[in-house]
Amino acid sequence: MAATFSHGRISRYFLVGSAFIAFGAIGYRAGFAQQPAEPSFEAQSQANAERLLTEGRQIFRYQTFGDEAFWGQTLQLHQAIQGAKFGGVGGGLSPKAALGAGLKVDAAALPAEVVAAIRRGAVDLNDPATTLALLKLNAVVGVKGNFDPSGKRLVSVGVTCALCHSTVDNSFAPGIGQRLDGWPNRDLNVGAVIALSPDLSVVDKLLGISDATTRKVLASWGPGKFDAELFLDGKAFRPDGKSAATLLPAAYGLAGVNLHTYTGWGSVPYWNAFVANLEMHGVGRFSDERLNDPKKFPVAARAGFAHLSPETDQVTRYLPALQFYQLSLPAPQAPPGSYDMAAAARGEAIFNRGNGKTSCASCHMPPTFTDSGWNIHTGREIGIDDFQARRSPSWFINGREVVGYRTTPLKGLWSRQKGGFYHDGRFATLMDVVNHYDRQFGLRLTPRQKADLVEYLKSL
Ligand code: HEC
Ligand code: HEC
Repeated sequence: MAATFSHGRISRYFLVGSAFIAFGAIGYRAGFAQQPAEPSFEAQSQANAERLLTEGRQIFRYQTFGDEAFWGQTLQLHQAIQGAKFGGVGGGLSPKAALGAGLKVDAAALPAEVVAAIRRGAVDLNDPATTLALLKLNAVVGVKGNFDPSGKRLVSVGVTCALCHSTVDNSFAPGIGQRLDGWPNRDLNVGAVIALSPDLSVVDKLLGISDATTRKVLASWGPGKFDAELFLDGKAFRPDGKSAATLLPAAYGLAGVNLHTYTGWGSVPYWNAFVANLEMHGVGRFSDERLNDPKKFPVAARAGFAHLSPETDQVTRYLPALQFYQLSLPAPQAPPGSYDMAAAARGEAIFNRGNGKTSCASCHMPPTFTDSGWNIHTGREIGIDDFQARRSPSWFINGREVVGYRTTPLKGLWSRQKGGFYHDGRFATLMDVVNHYDRQFGLRLTPRQKADLVEYLKSL
């Protein structure tokens, strides 16, 4: 039986095969034998790149990874946004207040009649109903509203990567314009947005503090900052009493960069999974035994953040395209006229040469402007404390425990001057940074050389 069957199969293959050969011969004579039935592997990789880029952009902008369960169901943020008038709580969030908290509006999502109405002044920017309309248009950058079938009431709200890592070009009005993905939103007051929530008891419980203290911590961050480690170690303030929050970093210009975050937590896909699960509170699988350290990460160890495996995973499948999209984002070019070209050229030479012993380029290596290879340096090397470095996992290098700071890729610096420089914005201006390095490395730069170096930094 089996023999007959396989015999039959062989002859079927034979017939099909002969047909192919015959067809191929005809095709060859007709001159199209060279055309393969399948796209070449090269064409497949090209198509793959285009698909990953397009999908990644959608994910970066609109994907909530199921985090509505947290921002909506748990924190009830949507109730504060719509206000009592629509069945929520409080007065609601007007577009004016939303823009005031640094939220941005994507002008491309606004239909022509809405644009015309805004121009005529016929849209009430003090009415929370307008915020609901914008959410329904998917026009609030990084915030996704889910509505009931009537379309009138928000039933939950979620956040996306774009909330913190995109801004707009203000081409329509301040806070309203075309999206700029990867540009950190240094206007966004993340703490104030979270504090809109009528119910932060989950956060209070996680951190083991009173509601008043939670709200005090959120108020301490200020615009352009967030504390990604707070929910791991519960440290809200530095030893000097200032907020432990860090600046929202750029998510552009990261291709070719080894470790990510200010203290080098890991690769881009590592951190993306971390953020989607542990910061945005999406619903996915995650694994990092390093978080099971009750001394360094008491909150994370207690809460079991080291290993998450919910029944459905709404994060992991998005990681490939998300990484690809991020790596595709170039650092924005400095606008012509925004720096002195001759001075910048002189500054470049100082950057590359330094004092012959130490140079900026020995760590900030062009064209990525981070170290090619291992890109972590201790606080001592760059002349700062290691409070923030200690809040991330240690490395063991040649048997020695090391924590440090990742050499920041400097491209696009001009586009993120608001909020200052270094992880916590401790240096208000680029000149402050240069003065710091001048002292730290004994560069003995003249005032003119310092100014040239600043012009170069502005040109990157
Ligand atoms: C609430 C604001 C917020 C949201 C939302 C957010 N991030 Fe971040 N992101 C930060 C902060 C703050 C850091 C710096 C963390 C640190 O160094 O401790 C960061 C760091 C990063 C870095 C490292 C950048 C570098 O210079 O190496 C990447 C990449 C990144 N985020 C991607 C994402 C992606 C992808 C998402 C969505 C899944 C996302 N972030 C959502 C605030 C946010
Ligand atoms: C030993 C390695 C090293 C050298 C040398 C070095 N840097 Fe840095 N640089 C770093 C690290 C690490 C950081 C991140 C510090 C932080 O975030 O706290 C940084 C941050 C910066 C920043 C802030 C970027 C931002 O977005 O906040 C600027 C600007 C900068 N460096 C410029 C320079 C210049 C100019 C020189 C030469 C005078 C220089 N660096 C020399 C390692 C170095």
